[in-house]
Amino acid sequence: MIDISKDLVQVTRLALSEETEDVRLFVARLVRKYRTVDPELSKQMDVQLKAKVPRSQTLMRKITSQFEQPVPVDDQSGLSLLKVYRAEDSTEPPLLAPGIQEKMDQLIQERLQKDLLVSMGLQPTKSAVFVGKPGVGKTVTARWLAAQLQVPLYVLDLTAVMSSLLGHSGNNLRAALDFAKRSPCILLLDEIDAIAKSRNDDSDVGELKRLVTVILQEVDEWPSTGLLLAATNHPELIDRALWRRFDLIIEFGLPEISMVKSAVKRFLGADISLFEPWIEILAFIFHGYSFSDIERDIQRFRRAIALGMSSDTQLMEDFIKARVCELDHSSRIKLAVELAKQGSFTQHSIKALTGVSRDTIRKYTSDSSLKLQSSGRKAKS
Ligand SMILES: Nc1ncnc2c1ncn2[C@@H]1O[C@H](COP(=O)(O)OP(=O)(O)O)[C@@H](O)[C@H]1O
Ligand SMILES: [Mg+2]
Repeated sequence: MIDISKDLVQVTRLALSEETEDVRLFVARLVRKYRTVDPELSKQMDVQLKAKVPRSQTLMRKITSQFEQPVPVDDQSGLSLLKVYRAEDSTEPPLLAPGIQEKMDQLIQERLQKDLLVSMGLQPTKSAVFVGKPGVGKTVTARWLAAQLQVPLYVLDLTAVMSSLLGHSGNNLRAALDFAKRSPCILLLDEIDAIAKSRNDDSDVGELKRLVTVILQEVDEWPSTGLLLAATNHPELIDRALWRRFDLIIEFGLPEISMVKSAVKRFLGADISLFEPWIEILAFIFHGYSFSDIERDIQRFRRAIALGMSSDTQLMEDFIKARVCELDHSSRIKLAVELAKQGSFTQHSIKALTGVSRDTIRKYTSDSSLKLQSSGRKAKS
């Protein structure tokens, strides 16, 4: 009785502070607590809990219990083994090459129409590997997928697991996998090549073999309520037997020029109008870089503008100076021509910036100042 009064006060407190998520968590705990002593009360609370599903979890109605599971921790350090990303409706779609986008769309449709697949004797994709350099969107894509499927994303950083005391890494891995299997979610095994890499260290080879075996079994037995993802920048290091087990391999390349342009526009955000005349040039210079590299530089420009420390033209000039040495001769000519079309710099300063002579620039822009002006305006419109 005393217990019930205390719990009632606690529910009231949480409800009045409008901590809806905490109310849900607490009520879920009460449902379990009273299940044996007062089954009727427990049932009624459970009915209420399930009747009012938070908007972001419509697809997860059946598994409110996922909030109750504590995330596993490393027993030596007490640090959490998994990074948790809750599904958020606001997650912005990543910029993806058309081929990758298609595969993602199919992955999502397979989940949303799972019953149809099953009725035809098929199973949705259970596992996939994302291959690609750092900063190309492997993690953001996993987050977005999770948001689309309305499930949480758990990320297990294998570099961290491997650097934890050997002998414990097996237990940690198993704890993380067991946790993720219990409820619908996406589990991302990040930097899966870390296991292979540490083979070169003086680490225990037997232990590493066991780790690979653990993952091998898990890929095979992964429940179709979940999706097991792995990410790597070094596919050649992955155990072949493990590689074969994954249902789908997706290669994230560096962005194509059209994607670079979209990224530049997106990352410019509210400053897009100021930088509009520079977009072609920015896209040209950023070609060959990852999304995160592009984002980092653009954020820096935006901060400089926000603080009034520089102008867009000055920023571009400094940026071109810093990057021009990476360009080959023909790219420098292309850049010089783009700059001439853009119209903010004189041919003299373009020569100073790119080393391309005025004659060459003229040759490629067919020597019409009218044409240059109209191109410049076109970029602005
Ligand atoms: N495809 C993409 N679309 C939009 N932003 C991206 C994309 N890829 C990377 N980014 C930006 O770069 C950051 C790092 O990307 P991330 O997904 O963590 O890369 P990784 O491939 O190393 O996992 C993201 O937080 C995001 O801001
Ligand atoms: Mg990542």
